[in-house]
Amino acid sequence: MKTLILYSSYDGQTQKIARAIAAHLTDCCECDVVDLRLAHDLNLQCYQRVVIGTAIRYGRFAADIDHFIAQQLEWLHSIPSAFYSVNLTARKPDKRTSSTNTYTRKFLAKTPWRPDLCAVFAGALCYPRYRWFDRVIIQMIMSVTGGETDRTKEVEYTDWQQVSTFADDLAQLTAKQVTQCL
Ligand SMILES: Cc1cc2nc3c(=O)[nH]c(=O)nc-3n(C[C@H](O)[C@H](O)[C@H](O)COP(=O)(O)O)c2cc1C
Repeated sequence: MKTLILYSSYDGQTQKIARAIAAHLTDCCECDVVDLRLAHDLNLQCYQRVVIGTAIRYGRFAADIDHFIAQQLEWLHSIPSAFYSVNLTARKPDKRTSSTNTYTRKFLAKTPWRPDLCAVFAGALCYPRYRWFDRVIIQMIMSVTGGETDRTKEVEYTDWQQVSTFADDLAQLTAKQVTQCL
């Protein structure tokens, strides 16, 4: 089953997770990893499975995801589909499920899309790469929530075993409809 992995990423962690999922699936299927902003250039009918991954910034997912879902809802529901979100709140294991992670729970409650599989992954903290304003705000949030406050540090919280398990579960999603890419 040819699989499309779409990602929306600002600092690269959501993209890195997309690539890790694709690498995990190489033995079982062909995967394309594509920036969600470029999805309009794709022939979606070539794919038999889709994953959308998106990062959180200031409590929001990128607007592109809502537009894509609105435009492609019928297609999303015609094949096995999966969703993952990436944020720093999920560095705490009890905030790492689609029901305990507030951003993800709210997103799933409001979107018309019903993905077959959902996951929440902890992202990365990259102080040296942030703009001054973002660095200050993130440091304040980390201070309040008991996280890393050293502004010289980069910390990756992603649980790669969790990503592998998600990829295994994805591989088990059966076809709803087999489409032929000509
Ligand atoms: C400016 C900024 C705002 C952020 N806002 C949030 C937030 O509201 N909640 C949260 O849990 N994480 C937040 N994060 C953390 C990101 O979701 C996390 O760093 C993630 O790894 C980003 O994914 P990306 O590298 O694919 O962009 C924020 C990070 C930055 C730089």
